[in-house]
Amino acid sequence: MAGSIVRDDIDAVRERTRIEEIVGERVALKSGGVGSLKGLCPFHDEKTPSFHVRPGIGRWHCFGCGEGGDVISFLMKADGLPFAEAVEYLAGRAGITLRYESGGKRSEATGGGRRRLVEANRVAAEFFVEALATPEAKPGRDFLSGRGFEKEAADLFGVGYAPKGWHGLVEHLRKKGFIEAEIEASGLASRGQQSSGRDSRIFDRFRGRLVWPIRSVTGEVVGFGARKLLDDDGGPKYLNTPETPLYKKSQVLYGLDLAKKAIASSRQVVVVEGYTDVMACHLSGVQTAIATCGTAFGEEHARMLRRLLGGGVGAPTKIGMSRAEVIFTFDADEAGRNAALKAFELESEFLSQTYVAVAPDGLDPCDLRLQRGNDAVGALVGSRLPLFEFVIKAALAGNDLETAEGRVAALRSAAPVVAGIRDGALRPEYARRLAGWLGIEMERVRAAVAAAGKARRPASAGGVGGAQAGAGGAQMDVSEAPALNPKDPVVRAERMALEVLLQEPASVEPEWVATLDAEAFTVPQYRAVWDGIVAAGGIQTAASLEAGWVNRVADEVGEAVAPVVSALAVSPMSHDRPAEMPRFARSVIAGVHDLALTRKISDARGRMQRIGEGNVGYQEAFAELVALEGERRALREE
Ligand code: GTP
Ligand code: MN
Repeated sequence: MAGSIVRDDIDAVRERTRIEEIVGERVALKSGGVGSLKGLCPFHDEKTPSFHVRPGIGRWHCFGCGEGGDVISFLMKADGLPFAEAVEYLAGRAGITLRYESGGKRSEATGGGRRRLVEANRVAAEFFVEALATPEAKPGRDFLSGRGFEKEAADLFGVGYAPKGWHGLVEHLRKKGFIEAEIEASGLASRGQQSSGRDSRIFDRFRGRLVWPIRSVTGEVVGFGARKLLDDDGGPKYLNTPETPLYKKSQVLYGLDLAKKAIASSRQVVVVEGYTDVMACHLSGVQTAIATCGTAFGEEHARMLRRLLGGGVGAPTKIGMSRAEVIFTFDADEAGRNAALKAFELESEFLSQTYVAVAPDGLDPCDLRLQRGNDAVGALVGSRLPLFEFVIKAALAGNDLETAEGRVAALRSAAPVVAGIRDGALRPEYARRLAGWLGIEMERVRAAVAAAGKARRPASAGGVGGAQAGAGGAQMDVSEAPALNPKDPVVRAERMALEVLLQEPASVEPEWVATLDAEAFTVPQYRAVWDGIVAAGGIQTAASLEAGWVNRVADEVGEAVAPVVSALAVSPMSHDRPAEMPRFARSVIAGVHDLALTRKISDARGRMQRIGEGNVGYQEAFAELVALEGERRALREE
C-alpha cells in the first residue's frame, strides 16, 4: 500500500490552494456577503444559491443539503477522487512536492486511479497531434481544410489523427509506462475476441480517424471523438470513447473548457451538434458554443449549464442581471425537430429560457461559416426563437393556414404542444400567441388547449380545487372517513405512493408494487384507492390505458372515493424531474412497504409475548418475526 502523505504537506497544500479558484472552476460564484462567495450547489439540485465558500477560512458549506468541508473534501466529492489523489492534484497545481510516510510511493505508481487515466489521455492526445503531421494523415488534413480549418484552428482545439495500424497508440502508451489494465480502462484500446474464445491482445480503438480531444471543464482530456475518413472504414461516422471512470457521455460537453468564461460573462450558451460546429462557432466569434458528444442533450447537461450560468436560469431575474439564455441550433430536418421535442421534456424552468436557432437552408454552423462567412454564424445565433414558439410553429408547418380546414387541422396539432407546457404562466401566453399565428379567436384556442390538456391529465377536472385537496385530502367528501392530518408521516407516505401509482405508472416497476398489499394502506380512503388500482388491473394495465388509467381507477372506486382519486392524480408531487422519477417512485413505494413491515413486526412481537416462550405457536411467531425483520433490513439496505 502506498504510504500516507506527510501531515505537514497536506497542511501546506491547504494553505497554498485558493479554495475559491478550485470551486470557481466547477461552480459559478458571485459575492455572497462579506468574505463569502455563493453559487449553485454542485451536490444537490437547486435553483437559488445556498452553496457558500469562505476563501478566508478555506471552507465551503451548503445550507441546502448540509454538506461542507475544506478544499480537499470539495475536490473529492466534485471530481470523485480518493483523498490522496485530491491532495496530489492540488499539490501539483501549487508546485508542492509531497513526501510520503514510510517510504510510500505516489498513489499513481500503484496503477489505476483517475490521475493515471487523465495522464494516458493526455499522452494519447499528444500522440494524435503528432500523427496529424505524418503523410498517412493527409485525408485528415484535407478534411480539416475542406471544412475551413487551418493549422492554427486544429492546434487550438488539439485535433489529431489516429493512425491506421492496430497497435500504434497501445505500443506508445506501453513505452510510456502504462500497463495494459490502465490502457484498457482509459477506453483508448479495445480487446478483441479470438475465434478460440480466448482473450486476445488489446488494440487501438481509434484507427484511421480524425480525433478531437474532449476535455473536462477544467481542461483535462477525458476522452475523444473520432470521425471516419476512409471509405474502407466499416465503422460508424463518429466513434467516441466508451464510458470510463473519466468519460460519462451524459456529463461531457465538448468545448466547455474553452467556452466557460464567455458563458459565465455573457450568460449565454449556444448548444450545437458537432465538433466541427463548435470549432466554426468559436472561430466566428461565438465563443459560448459547446456540443454534446454522441448523445442527446439531457438533464445532467442542463444541470451543468445551470451551475455555470449561475442560477439565472429559472430563477427570477435580478435588476441589472441579464436573463440567461440557452440556445440550441438544430438541423431544420425531422431529426432536428425531434431533438427540439426531446428537449421539451427537460425541466420546465430551464425551458423558459431555452431558444432554438435554425439556419437558412438548414446549414449547420460549420457549413454556414464555409458558405456565408463568419458573420452568418453570429446572425444565426441572433435569429433564435423561444423553444416553445419553435416547436409550436413546427406543429403548424404543413397546414395551409389560408383555409378554414387548414387552420382547424393546425390548431389540432398545435394544441397538445401548448397543453404540454408545464409552466402555468407561459401556457396561457402561448395559447394567446397561437391564436394570433392562426388568426383564430382566443376562446376556441383556449378550449382546444384545455381539451388537449385533459387528455394528457385525465382526472384534472377538479382543477385548482383538486390540487388543493391533494395537499392532504382533508376536504374530500368521504363522509365516514376521518379527517386526515397531512403532516402525519403515515398519511404522507401513503398519499405519495398513490400519487406515483396514479400519475407516473410508467416509472414504477411491477415488482415494487408486488411488495404492497391492502394492509399496506391504513388510511381508509387510501386503502379504497389501492383496491381500485388492483381492481382496475394493477399497474401493469396502466401502460395500455395511457390517459385512461386514472379514469379506470376512478370508475372502480365508486362515486364516494372518486374525488380522492382525482385529488391524488393532480396534486403536484414533491418531485417532478422526469429523469429522477423512477428513483423517487422507488423510494416512495419502499417507504410504504417499510411502514407496513414495521407494523407487522410489532404485531409479531406482540403475538410472541401473548403466546409465551415454550408454548404452541411461539416458534412460528418467532420465525415470522425473523423473516419480517430480514425483509425490512434488506429493504433499508437497498
Ligand atoms: P457531415 O456534415 O455529414 O459531413 O458530417 P459532420 O462531421 O459535420 O457530422 P454530422 O453533422 O453528421 O454530425 C454532427 C455530430 O453528431 C457529430 O459531431 C457527432 O457528435 C454526432 N454524430 C453524427 N454521427 C454519429 C455517429 O455515427 N455516432 C455517434 N456516436 N455520433 C454521431
Ligand atoms: Mn455536419
